[in-house]
Amino acid sequence: MLYSKEVIKHFQKPSNMGKMPNPDGVGEVGNPVCGDMMNIYIKVGKNSKKQEIIKDIKFETLGCVAAIATSSMITELAKGKVLEQALKIEYTDVAKSLGSLPPIKTHCAGLAVEGLRAAIENYRKNKN
Ligand code: FES
Repeated sequence: MLYSKEVIKHFQKPSNMGKMPNPDGVGEVGNPVCGDMMNIYIKVGKNSKKQEIIKDIKFETLGCVAAIATSSMITELAKGKVLEQALKIEYTDVAKSLGSLPPIKTHCAGLAVEGLRAAIENYRKNKN
């Protein structure tokens, strides 16, 4: 089978899918080759050490099975993380958490990482 069980699970029942009203940051990314598009929305809060964390995160994705699954997985990996840690999530972390991704689909995990980073950058820009 092309996709792992975990990919199918996240495609069929994605976590944190949908639009977020009044997000603190939005990352809009797309891949010009395959045409897939992803929007990642974040709300930023503070933890007990007063560090900025991703309090809430949602996504909207128009794309392939792997694009939906990697969007869902990146929201799970990023939720609750300090922004600095969230920025360190790599596409390999997303792929590993999904069991595996077919080689032609690793760029989908890359797009999810790009979307998250863009949302954090957008938040930081809005704040200043
Ligand atoms: S085929 Fe391009 S993001 Fe999935």
